[in-house]
Amino acid sequence: MVKGATKSVSGDGKAPAKAPVKAPRAKAKSGATRAKKKPVAAVTALPLVEPHERRVAGTLGGRRLAVCSPKGGVGKTTTALRVAMALAGHFGLRVLVMDLDPSAGATRLLAPKLITDPPAGTREVFLSGAAVEDVAVATGWGVDLCAASNALSEVEAILPGRREREYVLRDALDKIPADRWDVVVLDCPPSHEQLPTNALTATDAVLAVVQPSLLSVAAVPELEAMVSSFKRRLNPLLEHWGYLYCAVPERERIAREMREVLRRHVSDRLWPIEVRADTRMRGSLKRQAEEGRAVDDYVRVAREVLRRFDALPKRVLSAN
Ligand SMILES: Nc1ncnc2c1ncn2[C@@H]1O[C@H](COP(=O)(O)OP(=O)(O)O)[C@@H](O)[C@H]1O
Ligand SMILES: [Mg+2]
Repeated sequence: MVKGATKSVSGDGKAPAKAPVKAPRAKAKSGATRAKKKPVAAVTALPLVEPHERRVAGTLGGRRLAVCSPKGGVGKTTTALRVAMALAGHFGLRVLVMDLDPSAGATRLLAPKLITDPPAGTREVFLSGAAVEDVAVATGWGVDLCAASNALSEVEAILPGRREREYVLRDALDKIPADRWDVVVLDCPPSHEQLPTNALTATDAVLAVVQPSLLSVAAVPELEAMVSSFKRRLNPLLEHWGYLYCAVPERERIAREMREVLRRHVSDRLWPIEVRADTRMRGSLKRQAEEGRAVDDYVRVAREVLRRFDALPKRVLSAN
């Protein structure tokens, strides 16, 4: 294998497919069905990335973004994966997704085969001192993966007995050669335990995800307090990037009400870019990409991620 290359794996055990940069065309339907089908506005309005935006961020040197929320089921994994895939597929970056959740949602979506036959991954980075670049695998989706499995939960039992336990991930990420990945995306579990603590200690920036539900919005003060406490104690340079409003139904009153509550609580920390609700997002990555308007929203989110990492040139900043 070429030095610096990542072992390859695809979800179905076949050779990895090329990264699905664009939504594949829907299969041709009979004339009658085609006539009834509404045009898909989101596809025509695809936020195409200009050629000059590709690889602009070649000097990022492994900037780290943690996607967090104390709540489960709010879209953290979906956001982590779709942002990573957009950064790789649309902006030409080399991206590593690190699955920090023992429920292994990111691994299940990116490389389902690894669920039944887990390789060394995040658990070994924490417990055996494995090098991230040695255990990372290339997926068929244009991003590399440091995989998780249920066994990752052992970290929560073992790490509390170790010294400097909050810094295990930071130390491991610091050892990755700077030219290996442009961006490392950390998909966090919903808790305050060792794994998210390590993520928030290791990361450059944290993006919180919130959905239009009372319980999700109610967790915002908890997250604000948590990030402040990390900035004070463990990671003074941590950038709090605020809240991405996800899975937002376009015409539902509850979504408008929750947006107002969020604005009152976090004002300018609420991202103006939102991710629309789209049932296709509940399926496989391939299903999500088929005409998925939320997938397009995530390209806009990825562009904003690059802006916040100061990775896009000024003319692009002013053009959007
Ligand atoms: N934009 C969206 N529209 C509809 N469903 C979504 C959207 N984003 C995520 N979902 C669904 O919400 C559920 C929880 O998402 P997930 O990313 O696994 O959350 P978490 O990682 O916070 O537990 C999943 O079934 C996912 O497919
Ligand atoms: Mg998750």
